[in-house]
Amino acid sequence: ALPTSIKLFEMAPRDGLQNEPGTLVPTTTKIELIERLAKAGLTHIEAASFVSPKWVPQMGDATDVMNGITRQPGVVYSALTPNLKGLEGALAAGVEEVAVFGAASEAFSQKNINCSIAESLKRFEPVLERANEAGVRVRGYVSCVLGCPYEGDISPAKVAEVANALFEMGCYEISLGDTIGVGTPLAAKRMIEATRQQVPIEYLAAHFHDTYGMALANLYAVLEEGVSVIDAATAGLGGCPYAKGASGNVATEDVLYLIEGLGIHTGIDLQAVIDTGYWITNKLGRRPSSKVALAKGAG
Ligand code: HMG
Ligand code: MG
Repeated sequence: ALPTSIKLFEMAPRDGLQNEPGTLVPTTTKIELIERLAKAGLTHIEAASFVSPKWVPQMGDATDVMNGITRQPGVVYSALTPNLKGLEGALAAGVEEVAVFGAASEAFSQKNINCSIAESLKRFEPVLERANEAGVRVRGYVSCVLGCPYEGDISPAKVAEVANALFEMGCYEISLGDTIGVGTPLAAKRMIEATRQQVPIEYLAAHFHDTYGMALANLYAVLEEGVSVIDAATAGLGGCPYAKGASGNVATEDVLYLIEGLGIHTGIDLQAVIDTGYWITNKLGRRPSSKVALAKGAG
């Protein structure tokens, strides 16, 4: 059955901008983006990434971004932290929620975080312990849940195993990433069916990229399974620098249109999100990839 309420997790400032080629997006633009998204009614915003600036220079200003935003009450501004060094940076910047990120593919784990899946899980343990002490919640990502750019098909059992390991370690929610957007609805459904045997459905989130234009169809398939947390990026921004060919996340505008059409109310102002998408893509020299944004136009 479809869920009766949905939590949207906004990815544009992090997943959306981490892969942006060319000149770095100014810190002030990132701060304004985050503030606009919060004003539009988004209550969960992944704002930055405390990763190595040698690996992802686009996120090198994470501390300045986190310190620069004017926080709205009721809004959670989170950040990626791949290791203790990242977590210490995030804590110093007052982050109230962080995320560790692993993968269901060995090859992708090596390319993205320079270690095996088993090593990554070992590395996350002290991150969770330290975050716990600091009273900071930890989300867990699993990448390549519907396919890997290096290994091809990934078995649902492997996704379930890694999701379970993160959940057992104390991650409060497990976000399942179709990193390169190759999934189709039946595969998405089977992946959820396997994973929910290990982690209850209410703790699972769908993080789908739209490379092949399947993200909305895949989302609908997993909503029918009862998934009620969706990651999306305004204007369909995004991609992972270590997943060649990966394009943006499913667009927040398109997800909002879909779920409002299902009668699920979010309290998020669709037109304000659309306007924010036009504003940020204008800064980046392009247009939103959201079909809903293109159809409705800037307000
Ligand atoms: P490494 O080179 O193995 O790390 O990288 P290391 O511990 O050997 O350290 C090497 C250098 O990096 C040292 O500096 C460290 O201090 C520094 P040096 O001594 O050479 O000057 N360093 C750091 N600096 C700042 N912050 C840190 C940090 N850690 C080490 N946290 C590491 C390992 C994990 C750090 C690296 O591989 C990395 O940063 N990877 C991040 C890759 C990334 O951000 N990918 C995109 C996000 S994941 C994603 O997009 C998928 C997702 O959206 C879901 C989906 O779509 O599937 C979440
Ligand atoms: Mg992603």
